[in-house]
Amino acid sequence: MEKEDIYLSTASWGKSEPTYETKQFLLALIIKEKINNKKPNIIDAGAGLGRNSIYLSENGFDVTAIEYDEGAINPLKDNIRENNQSDNIRVINLNIIDYLRRQEDHSIDAVLDSGMSHYLTLDEKEEYFMLLRQKMAEDGLFSITHFSKEDKSANGLSEDQLRLLLEGMIELDDIHFDTWTDSISKSEHFAYKGLLAMPGGRCNEIKDIYIRVYELILDKKITSVKQIHEYLNGLNVKTQILDSKTIGQGVVGEMQQIEEIDATMSVLQAHQQIIRKQQDGRQYEN
Ligand SMILES: C[S@@+](CC[C@H](N)C(=O)[O-])C[C@H]1O[C@@H](n2cnc3c(N)ncnc32)[C@H](O)[C@@H]1O
Repeated sequence: MEKEDIYLSTASWGKSEPTYETKQFLLALIIKEKINNKKPNIIDAGAGLGRNSIYLSENGFDVTAIEYDEGAINPLKDNIRENNQSDNIRVINLNIIDYLRRQEDHSIDAVLDSGMSHYLTLDEKEEYFMLLRQKMAEDGLFSITHFSKEDKSANGLSEDQLRLLLEGMIELDDIHFDTWTDSISKSEHFAYKGLLAMPGGRCNEIKDIYIRVYELILDKKITSVKQIHEYLNGLNVKTQILDSKTIGQGVVGEMQQIEEIDATMSVLQAHQQIIRKQQDGRQYEN
């Protein structure tokens, strides 16, 4: 059997619909871009057949798709080409650990890990999370879906172990346990999911705005990506201008004060509402 056939026969994650977590990640990316006045660079760690990279690229972001399985590379590139996103997605056939080791410190703005990290050995997991902290920018975003210890198909961690490895990061969407049934294999899965930010720069503002916009999405007052942009344009966000020396070095750059954000909503209260509504399983349209 060819490497590609072997990969495709196990790739139950498919190649078309992005995950719900990627939609949440997109919202945080749009907010981060607005606040930092700079387009974030994004790593799709374990990109698979590219459904999430393509979605982010279609929504205006450049993505570096890292995938270590040789059998995935041609189908991934074909999928990207068929969706006309080849100009915005760079595919790299490498182990994520090797890729991260080669990056400059604080140079990565955002990492999407949709079902990759549980594949690593325990030593690799420790190095991976250590490298993420070292290589990510000061308010860098990290989305994780990590199959838990309970899932028989994976090599996952317990909640305590995962929390330890992510300690100190700010939770935009909290680390929570989730279960679902795979539509193809019909098997049940168990994972921890979370959307986090590195605890520097303007991470608290990103979190505050994320919670407010997400609440509007769950209430169906915002139903499209276009409306997210419109809402943010209407907010009086204090925009940060990064000069060329500070970009990529994780240092706060020159600030341009436009107007203060009117942060009236209690962050905690809003977050609790979001968790309740997430449990209702409501989603928003692309
Ligand atoms: C469950 S699949 C998910 C694919 C994709 N993220 C998605 O949501 O559609 C996980 C992918 O991670 C890749 N992977 C696992 N370990 C990796 C590593 N150390 N470096 C890069 N890719 C890896 C696997 O080959 C597989 O394609």
